[in-house]
Amino acid sequence: MIKLDAGDIAELGDRAEQMIAELGAISAEPDRLVRLFLTPEHRQAADVVAGWMRAAGMTPSEDALGTVRGHWPGRAGPAARCLLIGSHIDTVLDAGRYDGIFGVVAGILAVERVARAGLALPGAIDVLAFGDEEGSRFPSTLSSSAAVAGCFDRAALALTDGRGVTFADALVAYGKSPADISAAAYRGDAVAAYVEVHIEQGPVLEEAGQPLGIVTGIVGHCRMRAVVTGQAGHAGTVPMRLRRDALAAAMDFGLRLESIARENMADAMVATVGRLDVFPGSANVIPGCVAFSVDLRSMTDEGRRAAWADFSAEARRIAAARGVDVRFEPLLEVAATPCASGLQETFATALADLGCAPIRLPSGAGHDAQMMARLCPAAMLFVRCRGGVSHNPAEFASPADMGLAVAALIRFIERFAASR
Ligand code: GLV
Ligand code: MN
Ligand code: MN
Repeated sequence: MIKLDAGDIAELGDRAEQMIAELGAISAEPDRLVRLFLTPEHRQAADVVAGWMRAAGMTPSEDALGTVRGHWPGRAGPAARCLLIGSHIDTVLDAGRYDGIFGVVAGILAVERVARAGLALPGAIDVLAFGDEEGSRFPSTLSSSAAVAGCFDRAALALTDGRGVTFADALVAYGKSPADISAAAYRGDAVAAYVEVHIEQGPVLEEAGQPLGIVTGIVGHCRMRAVVTGQAGHAGTVPMRLRRDALAAAMDFGLRLESIARENMADAMVATVGRLDVFPGSANVIPGCVAFSVDLRSMTDEGRRAAWADFSAEARRIAAARGVDVRFEPLLEVAATPCASGLQETFATALADLGCAPIRLPSGAGHDAQMMARLCPAAMLFVRCRGGVSHNPAEFASPADMGLAVAALIRFIERFAASR
């Protein structure tokens, strides 16, 4: 087994922190971290990641959606199945530095150690740095991993960003061609498994006093855009009983959505309205139109679908009572995804090798592993993050915990190779 003493683990953690700091400096804005899909910042980050891959002994390449792939051949013949390790390098607006990035860094550092040790693996390893996990630019979340898994929905190419640029045009401006997307897919019989290391983004590991946790499954979720149309009018002259105020209706919908999620806590249901656009948007004009986002998640697909049916019926009833129209545009639906039990067991052995308790927990956040599970067995390892804070610049994982996570990934690679 590769030597991993306390000094090695500390060094891996420090390296991870330095790499995360380097990537965290690549932002579209000086005062907050914003790195969106198919932008100059994506280009810059992809080039840095490709450089790290090369230095670690991998051969980097890029697919049609800009996913960076670091290939390490191992000592396999061409027929051996490949182990995929990945996560994402795009961010939310005003992001923390660890979400996604740490999984890419962990994969690179682990392969570097494996390559340096000359480990004879039965198959190659590819490290994947996806560019569109968050859906922060286009409402197309997980499109990079969908392409790699062979389930990219070409309808996404017509989606537009906040400036009206289509996904297809942004892709061409990035130097890629929509015609090549199907070639980004791996063949199912060419891959052995996909694993992803990620900060937990919640407080469970911290509360348990444990640095690492094995993910049992990933929440299913749907996203919609709701458009409410009422009638704009003068804020001073139209009596309350004669108004068709789109914002008052949207607020009613949002509170009803919140109640439905609270009523389904057994399903770990959560609902969020994270974006609200009010038109025309003047203090002295009754809002005539409102568009808002709905993000609904639950550990069961049946529970989520029932809650959605309940909410849309309620919304139509409220709309009728208020004299407004409401329309829902579905943007995304990802099924709840159990993690492969065999891979969970391999992670448990890897954690035991390092003296860590094999704590298990579900993921309430969406991950590229959900798309990759359509291609091959997939699993995830979570790393404790301070206060459970994520999607926030205060996001933090300690170098000590990150070093341990990289060590666990190295042990996973060894154990997985031995089991094949
Ligand atoms: C991704 O971070 C998500 O869960 O929305
Ligand atoms: Mn993420
Ligand atoms: Mn995220």
